[in-house]
Amino acid sequence: MTSLKKLSFGKLSAPKDGVVVAFVDSDMAGGAVLNDLFGGDTKALAKAAGIAGFSGKKSSTLDLIAPAGASADRLLVVGLGKVAELKENDWWNLGGAMLGALEKAKVSAVYVALEGADAGAVSPTDAAAFAAGMKLRAYKFDAYKTRKEEDGPKSAIVVQIGVSDLKAVKKAWTAQEAIADGVLLARDLVDLPANDLGPVEFAERAAELEKLGAEIEILGEKEMKKLKMFALLGVSQGSVRPPRLAIMRWNGGKKGAKPVAFVGKGVVFDTGGISIKPAGGMEEMKGDMGGAAAVVGVMHALAARKAKVNAVGVIGLVENMPDGNAQRPGDIVTAMSGTTIEILNTDAEGRLVLADALWYTQEKYKPAFVIDLATLTGAIIVALGQQNAGLYANDDTIADQLKAAGDATGEGVWRMPLSKEYDKIIDTPNADVKNTGGRWAGSITAAQFLQRFVQEGTTWVHLDIAGPAFGGPKTDICQSWASGYGVRLLDRLVSDNYEGK
Ligand code: BES
Ligand code: MN
Ligand code: ZN
Repeated sequence: MTSLKKLSFGKLSAPKDGVVVAFVDSDMAGGAVLNDLFGGDTKALAKAAGIAGFSGKKSSTLDLIAPAGASADRLLVVGLGKVAELKENDWWNLGGAMLGALEKAKVSAVYVALEGADAGAVSPTDAAAFAAGMKLRAYKFDAYKTRKEEDGPKSAIVVQIGVSDLKAVKKAWTAQEAIADGVLLARDLVDLPANDLGPVEFAERAAELEKLGAEIEILGEKEMKKLKMFALLGVSQGSVRPPRLAIMRWNGGKKGAKPVAFVGKGVVFDTGGISIKPAGGMEEMKGDMGGAAAVVGVMHALAARKAKVNAVGVIGLVENMPDGNAQRPGDIVTAMSGTTIEILNTDAEGRLVLADALWYTQEKYKPAFVIDLATLTGAIIVALGQQNAGLYANDDTIADQLKAAGDATGEGVWRMPLSKEYDKIIDTPNADVKNTGGRWAGSITAAQFLQRFVQEGTTWVHLDIAGPAFGGPKTDICQSWASGYGVRLLDRLVSDNYEGK
C-alpha cells in the first residue's frame, strides 16, 4: 500500500548519472553536491530556472531532463524557501512534496542529496522528518485493487537519501519512522471497510502491538456485562458482531508513575441504529472508529520508539446497527458509573461508548490525564470544518500543550467552551442525563455529556475529530481518504511534555 519500494540513507555525494534530487533556497543557492553536479558552474541551472519561473519557493519543484552541463541524467530541484524559517513540520511536508513530484515524473529510482547551501541547514531531525513525510505521502489505500492502474507510477520508487551526518540521522529516523508508521496504521484502520474490520478484527489489530512490547488485554461481552458497561453494550446490541474493549499498555516510564491515557471511539460502522441515517454518504461511517484508530496509532508510535512514558490506550469497539434487538429511542440504560442515560437518539452512540470506556480507564488506571478522541458530531464539522479538531478541556495547561503540539505538527486543534449553562441542556426528567441536546451547540452538548463521566480530580480532554479524521483536502503528506489525524498530535504532546529524558 505504498509507492515507496525502498527508503535508505547514505553519504552525501554527487552521482555521475541517474535521477538526482537537489535543493535550493529562496536565493537559488544550493549545496556542495548541487554545485559539484554542474562542475562548479550552475549558470545553466539559473537559466533553466529563469525560463521555468522557478525561484526556490518552499515545496516548489523544477524537473530538468538531461540538464545542460550536469552529470545527472535528470535533476529534480526542490525549493526550500527561507531555510532559517523552516520548522520540523515543514520538512515532513517537503518530503511529501518531493515524492509527489517524483511520482508525477514516473521516476523509479532516485538519489536525494539532502543539504542546504550552508552546512548544518538540515539537522538530523529535519532529515528524518523529511523521510517520514515521504512515507506518509507514499501511502495509498489500494489493498482491494486487483488491477494496476495504467497511468500510475510504473513501479514503486527506490529512494536513497544522502545526508551529512549519517549516524545521527539514522538515530533520529528510528523515532520519526515509528511516528509515521503509527499514522499509516491509523489510516489503514480508518480506510478498511467495515465488512472486513468489525470489533473483533479491530481488537486483533490492536493486539498486534504486543510485538512491540505493549501489554494487551481484550474484554468481550461477558466481561463488559460483569463491569456493568450497559451504555456501551446498549449501542452494540443491534449488531450480530460482538463488541470488544481493547486495552493497550506501554510501560516505558518510571515504575509506578501514573500513566497518560488515551480513549478512543471505535464504532466500526455507524448506521445511526433505529434513528437511522440517510443513505447518502452513509459509507463514510466506516470511518467512525477514527478515534480508536488514532489511539492504536499513537500507542504504536510510543512503543516503537520506546518512549520514556507509561501510557494506556483504551478503545471501545462496537457496531451501531438497526435490528430486532437494537436499542430504541426512549430506552434508559445505566452506565458503568451508575449514571442513568435516556437514549433519545440512537445515532448519538459515540458518547455512550465513551462514557463506559472513560469510566473504566479512570477506575482502573487513575491516569495523570485522559484524552478521548472521537468522530463524535457533525456539528463540529459545521463549526470548524476539516482543518481543526474541537478541543474541550477541564484544564488550561493541557489545553495549551495540545494547542502547541497542534501548531508543531499541523494537526490543528481549536478550543471550545464548556459551562453549566450548556450542561443544563442535557438534563431530562426521566433519567440523570439524555444522550442528545438537540441541534444547537451539538458538539458542545456532546462534550458536556462526556464530562458527566469524568471523575473529580481527573484532568480530561475531549477531541472531537469528526472533521479532520477523513475525507479532507489532499495535502503534501496525505493523499488518502483517511488522514491518521491525532497520532502525530498526541505523540508530540507526550514527547514535548511527559517524557523522561
Ligand atoms: N459518527 C457520527 C458523527 C459524524 C458525522 C462523524 C459525520 C463524522 C462525519 C455520530 O455518531 C452522530 O451520528 N452524531 C449525530 C449526533 C446527533 C444525533 C445528536 C450528529 O452529529 O448528527
Ligand atoms: Mn451516530
Ligand atoms: Zn457515530
